Amino acid sequence: MGIRGLVLQLIVYGVVLAAASAEAYPIAKPGCQDKCGDVTLPYPFGTTEECYYDPEFLITCNDTFDPPKAFLTASAINVTNITLGGKVHILQYIARDCYAESGSPIADNKPWLRLSKFVISDTDNKFTAVGCDTEAFVNGSQGEKDFKVGCLSVCDSIDYVSNGSCSGVGCCQTSIPKGLDYVELTVSSYDNHTRVWDFNPCSYAFIVEANQFNFSSTYLQDLRNVNSLPVVLDWAIGNETCEQVKNNMTPYACQGNSTCIDAENGSGYHCKCLEGYEGNPYLPNGCRDIDECQDSSLHDWERSCINIEGNFTCLCPEGAPWGWKKRWRGLHS
Ligand SMILES: *[C@@H]1O[C@H](CO)[C@@H](O)[C@H](O)[C@H]1NC(C)=O
Ligand SMILES: *[C@@H]1O[C@H](CO)[C@@H](O)[C@H](O)[C@H]1NC(C)=O
Ligand SMILES: *[C@@H]1O[C@H](CO)[C@@H](O)[C@H](O)[C@H]1NC(C)=O
Ligand SMILES: *[C@@H]1O[C@H](CO)[C@@H](O)[C@H](O)[C@H]1NC(C)=O
Ligand SMILES: *[C@@H]1O[C@H](CO)[C@@H](O)[C@H](O)[C@H]1NC(C)=O
Ligand SMILES: *[C@@H]1O[C@H](CO)[C@@H](O)[C@H](O)[C@H]1NC(C)=O
Ligand SMILES: *[C@@H]1O[C@H](CO)[C@@H](O)[C@H](O)[C@H]1NC(C)=O
Ligand SMILES: *[C@@H]1O[C@H](CO)[C@@H](O)[C@H](O)[C@H]1NC(C)=O
Ligand SMILES: *[C@@H]1O[C@H](CO)[C@@H](O)[C@H](O)[C@H]1NC(C)=O
Ligand SMILES: *[C@@H]1O[C@H](CO)[C@@H](O)[C@H](O)[C@H]1NC(C)=O
Ligand SMILES: *[C@@H]1O[C@H](CO)[C@@H](O)[C@H](O)[C@H]1NC(C)=O
Repeated sequence: MGIRGLVLQLIVYGVVLAAASAEAYPIAKPGCQDKCGDVTLPYPFGTTEECYYDPEFLITCNDTFDPPKAFLTASAINVTNITLGGKVHILQYIARDCYAESGSPIADNKPWLRLSKFVISDTDNKFTAVGCDTEAFVNGSQGEKDFKVGCLSVCDSIDYVSNGSCSGVGCCQTSIPKGLDYVELTVSSYDNHTRVWDFNPCSYAFIVEANQFNFSSTYLQDLRNVNSLPVVLDWAIGNETCEQVKNNMTPYACQGNSTCIDAENGSGYHCKCLEGYEGNPYLPNGCRDIDECQDSSLHDWERSCINIEGNFTCLCPEGAPWGWKKRWRGLHS
């Protein structure tokens, strides 16, 4: 290999290293476990007292499973994903009510979900019932307030049932109230499925992440074999708004180069990296400057791009204002 080859190789290495270090910002506190099986564990979540923000953010990682499984606090709630945008993805059991051909009941259950600090996201989930002889409701509480919502679906032939939309025939859906921390699912039938048994022996009801559920007529049979479906929870820090936290001098979770955002229902707040930064806004020095010059979608004048703190600029004729620099690029392309 000649000198040219060596130089080329060094350049290639340089690019790869720069790209890798831009990705690798810390997501957990130093020395803390940042993964449990497939689930990434960003601070404020953690597996021990030193690693979480407060006990509501405890994740129990059980290594006896392969891959290891993550559970919310010390509960039996399976966590499948945690995002810094304020969501925890979990699995929750579906309610069912099944019958034999004669109309005698075979199996039914009434699953429930109790949360301590987090709430079931009213924007990400829908209450859904599937069946052709089906009445279903969800009841529970929102702090001190009780509620009950439901829907019904009755059909006498699978011919009326269409795929893709939960339109009320074979499948019905309704929104859930904000801020639920306890729910109980109930499903029942009118005629013990005797008139629809050949294509629909059970009624089903569940809360499900709306964009993960695409109704199909085959579910009238097949949901029998499904135990749980994905549900999204909302998490936030504390129970005060950004304003209250600043006024009350309560310890404040949003670290340098990050900003505070009120949680949707006004209980607690989120942190977000300032524009031009990325990383974990809950960690000290968690928000790192984005090197915009590495991202060719932001500009197409790589050669003259200069990354600056929280922003980027370009090598252009001296004294040229920002807007002018963009036009300058436009004229030359
Ligand atoms: C992990 O799961 C196994 C099997 O369900 C259970 O017996 C064990 O107690 C769990 N360990 C912890 C630390 O929760
Ligand atoms: C978790 O969610 C993020 C953001 O939506 C996604 O990029 C990632 O692939 C998900 N991880 C898992 C294990 O599903
Ligand atoms: C959570 O995981 C455990 C252990 O694998 C499993 O037994 C349980 O059925 C799961 N729960 C749900 C709601 O899927
Ligand atoms: C219909 O189902 C209910 C329970 O859901 C049961 O009590 C009743 O005996 C059933 N009726 C017949 C005719 O099997
Ligand atoms: C939900 O409804 C069932 C049946 O109507 C009732 O027994 C239960 O107490 C209710 N639960 C709550 C929390 O309202
Ligand atoms: C819905 O899609 C499934 C395959 O996913 C197909 O077997 C079934 O016949 C379709 N039902 C209707 C009503 O088109
Ligand atoms: C839902 O399924 C139908 C067919 O079964 C398909 O045409 C449609 O694109 C799917 N929609 C989504 C959002 O996956
Ligand atoms: C927000 O959700 C929490 C958690 O359940 C609840 O206690 C509180 O009442 C809700 N606040 C508002 C303003 O809805
Ligand atoms: C907010 O949280 C603090 C400490 O966790 C608690 O003492 C207080 O009662 C809570 N306030 C409300 C309105 O829930
Ligand atoms: C903001 O980000 C810059 C660049 O990453 C870093 O040097 C600085 O320490 C950060 N400021 C704080 C308060 O974390
Ligand atoms: C980046 O710099 C330009 C020009 O100085 C300015 O207009 C823009 O607001 C800056 N963006 C951020 C996120 O600071």
